[in-house]
Amino acid sequence: MASITIRNLDGSIKEKLRLRAAAHGRSMEEEVRLVLGELGNAVSIETSATSTTIHAPGALSGRRILLIIGAGIAAYKCLDLIRRLRERGAQVRPVLTKAAEEFVTPLAVGALAADKVFTELFSREDEHDVGHIRLSREADLIVVAPATADLMAKMATGLANDLASAILLATDKRVLIAPAMNPRMWNHPATRRNRAVLQKDGIRFVGPNKGEMAESGESGDGRMAEPLEIVGAIEKLLDRRPKPLAGKTIVMTSGPTHEPIDPVRYIANRSSGKQGHAIAAALARLGATVRLVSGPVTIPDPEDVAVIHVSTAREMRDAVEQLLPADAAIMVAAVADWRTANEAGEKIKKKPGEKAPALQMIENPDILAGVGHSKSRPRLVVGFAAETQDLLANAKRKLDKKGADWIVANDVSHATGVMGGDRNAVRIVTRSGVEEWPDMSKEEVAERLAAKIAAALQTVEV
Ligand code: C5P
Repeated sequence: MASITIRNLDGSIKEKLRLRAAAHGRSMEEEVRLVLGELGNAVSIETSATSTTIHAPGALSGRRILLIIGAGIAAYKCLDLIRRLRERGAQVRPVLTKAAEEFVTPLAVGALAADKVFTELFSREDEHDVGHIRLSREADLIVVAPATADLMAKMATGLANDLASAILLATDKRVLIAPAMNPRMWNHPATRRNRAVLQKDGIRFVGPNKGEMAESGESGDGRMAEPLEIVGAIEKLLDRRPKPLAGKTIVMTSGPTHEPIDPVRYIANRSSGKQGHAIAAALARLGATVRLVSGPVTIPDPEDVAVIHVSTAREMRDAVEQLLPADAAIMVAAVADWRTANEAGEKIKKKPGEKAPALQMIENPDILAGVGHSKSRPRLVVGFAAETQDLLANAKRKLDKKGADWIVANDVSHATGVMGGDRNAVRIVTRSGVEEWPDMSKEEVAERLAAKIAAALQTVEV
């Protein structure tokens, strides 16, 4: 049982919690109770004169993690990792490779895990019942941290010449690895090949991160992910929350489009893709199969989302058409309304005495309207309206014009900082009215919209 005292929370988390609670019209205690309740656990709240303490079973309560510790300097971080996992209610069963014993002692590892540490493939005590098979089966998840280049190579080729590699070959459970090695080893063609094989085999990765190496003067990709990042990846893999969008396919667009003027110049807009990408990730977290068509952005692809990268509006339309039918379409991209009619095949040259070239514009296809009025129209079609004036009137008009069920309207006047920024204040315009949401982070807008989409898709089906 873990306990949280709101008064002791980190200032920035407290602030986020305050905003989230205010947005939902709830007290902070009620908000925490609901957030923790989503984990499917009973939560009790204890209030004294000076503080409120919320007791909740750990997020990893009762989950069994087999932790294989490889031989690297980062092995010391595993001591903290074990502590963090146990704080969250997980049972940790450690396995040390022979060489790892040079970096951390079985005594320290065993004391923190409160369990026996396994090291030998042919141990007289454990192998009477084929210990490596049993170990590999008795876990909910196998975590390898640090995953050395050597361990990754063994996994990729299926070697089983010590306890760790034999477990990894014998298991039928999911495996998460946290690689840690010198950047040259990480970038070596052999490790690259092994990485590709492991990814194809369904092995999950967390990290490595960029940064300073233990070896002086060396830096680059290869630092093991921090214990809390590894915990986050484990929690995600063992997430028991209900997946209301499981089995649903959602097509999305996000980001700007680039409309070429000539081979080096293009017309673009300030969309960063942050809002669309956050919605795609939130829908995927609720179990949806999300297919995202993204214009050119500098942010990473959202996790667990299949992304098709395009540049122009026409490419975006073609990609979306290929992805229909679907259960829902959420069109967030800031698609350029016009493209140049006279795109030059060669770079337009500046010539002395000549006038500036005139750009002729023609209209781009309206992707949302195409989907909203198509024969294979998804059950739920959501568009966005980024306006600088007459926000609601424009949004309402778009419902019919685009054949959308909802228009998420946001004011993108320069002063709001929405375009490219991290916050958003939206209104959900439907045929039955307007829902006004307060200013919140784009992540929070995404979470709330994903929940609303999940509820709508469930209702539509009845
Ligand atoms: O007409 P307007 O650009 O304001 O409409 C915005 C909504 O329509 C957004 O959902 C956007 O993704 C979509 N749209 C589109 N194709 C266009 C223009 C807008 O899908 N050519």
